Amino acid sequence: MSQNLPATVTSSTFRSASSLKRSTSGLKIAALSMAAVTLAATAVLWQPTSVAAQAAPAANTPEFYTQRVLPIFKDNCYHCHGGMFHRGGLSMSSREGMMKGGHDGAVIVPGNAEQSLLIKLIRHEGPVDDPMPMPPKHKLSDDEIAIVTQWVQAGAVMPASQPSE
Ligand code: HEC
Repeated sequence: MSQNLPATVTSSTFRSASSLKRSTSGLKIAALSMAAVTLAATAVLWQPTSVAAQAAPAANTPEFYTQRVLPIFKDNCYHCHGGMFHRGGLSMSSREGMMKGGHDGAVIVPGNAEQSLLIKLIRHEGPVDDPMPMPPKHKLSDDEIAIVTQWVQAGAVMPASQPSE
């Protein structure tokens, strides 16, 4: 995207007077995109510092699972999919159970959130013929859905056993 920017600016700049209005808005958009790119670059550069400052675990570490994902699952899923409960054939309280999935097979495709049944179900975007929204009675917050999605996308890393379980 950043590579296209100079081209956009140049072509807008040399456009004829009759399309001045359009080229002005084009320039504005180009300027906005540049601001966005700068912001994004700043965010990327900034990340190592803020991560170190808050000691926030990266999404591909078991700590991310234990600190960010597990509390969501415990509060919203474990009473049906944890410990002795495995509704739908799915037991979420061990890595083995999570990766085995449920009656319909795997529910997580590590590294591919979009292909993961579990993600579709917590977004309440399950198969039309069998939607199974999870949890069945409410919906996780957007933040919670984002955390679980980030975790799956980063490889669904979790400890083999959970000390708290
Ligand atoms: C009130 C009980 C209950 C809660 C809470 C619950 N589930 Fe379920 N879950 C079920 C039942 C029952 C099924 C089987 C539904 C069916 O087959 O139609 C199921 C099925 C699933 C499946 C599909 C398994 C398969 O192979 O078909 C996934 C994935 C799933 N749940 C994930 C979750 C997640 C993630 C949470 C928490 C965010 C959650 N569930 C919370 C009862 C629950």
